[in-house]
Amino acid sequence: MSRIAYVNGRYVRHSEAAVSIDDRAFLFADGIYEVIEIFGGKLIDEAGHLERLNRSARELLLKLPVGERALKLILRELVARNGVAYGHVYLQVTRGVARRDHFFPKAGTPTTLVAFAHRSDRAAAEAKAQAGIKVISLPDIRWKRPDIKSTSLLPNVLAKQQAKDFGAYEAWLVDEEGFVTEGSSSNAWIVDADGALVTHPADSGILRGITRARLFEIAAAHQIRIVERRFTVVEAKAAREAFITGATTLVMPVVAIDGEKIGGGAPGPVALGLRAAFHGFAPASE
Ligand code: PDD
Repeated sequence: MSRIAYVNGRYVRHSEAAVSIDDRAFLFADGIYEVIEIFGGKLIDEAGHLERLNRSARELLLKLPVGERALKLILRELVARNGVAYGHVYLQVTRGVARRDHFFPKAGTPTTLVAFAHRSDRAAAEAKAQAGIKVISLPDIRWKRPDIKSTSLLPNVLAKQQAKDFGAYEAWLVDEEGFVTEGSSSNAWIVDADGALVTHPADSGILRGITRARLFEIAAAHQIRIVERRFTVVEAKAAREAFITGATTLVMPVVAIDGEKIGGGAPGPVALGLRAAFHGFAPASE
């Protein structure tokens, strides 16, 4: 089955899907995106992701080219046409195609909508979770609006690659006051000495993760307290457990920070328990 992508109203072969070199995202990274998990052929937490897409659009004065109903149909069509049982859909909206100029394109310029589906290796992801991942800490050099899910991800990709070069999977970004904000593509969490989950407040400095939001419900059901407060790398290194959350990683245990073992160097029961519980709580599409 050949892969099919969606580009501005048409379903095309993924390998032939294309946008103009004048597209604002190509020239200025002037776009927004979402990544939604596909689990058992269903979209997980779709409503939260689409709500956040709308918010990102509002914050950047971007008009989505299609309404919510149409968008949902496109996503379902992509899952079906690509026959994806487990994986992700990626969707991106850009400020459209216009001759290069920092000013916005003239009013009425259609925005670009691109979406595609990826298959993922469930067994490999599970094996990774059972082994746990390593993270490194790096300065958070991003702009002050990480709450917007923008395609401008240069600091994030540089941090991610640095992590890889260090033999780690993720980089935890540290603000100027020494507090961990989040990962380059995930939210950051620790489990403190009392067994409470600690994560950076979402009112500034981080992306308000959809997986993060779902964890509040799961934790409550398991009588686990969540404290939204800032924590340092030093505190994280001494934590009982650490983990990350995101649509591509779900709940993923962290077993080392900057080469120092966390919780004895093995995934902890809290992180693994939350991971196991996740799909029992996150709503799946019809
Ligand atoms: N990233 N923080 C950042 C900087 C992210 O890029 C992401 C997700 C998250 C977690 O958000 P959510 O739980 O809604 O996926 C937090 C996606 C998966 C990506 O860029 O591929």
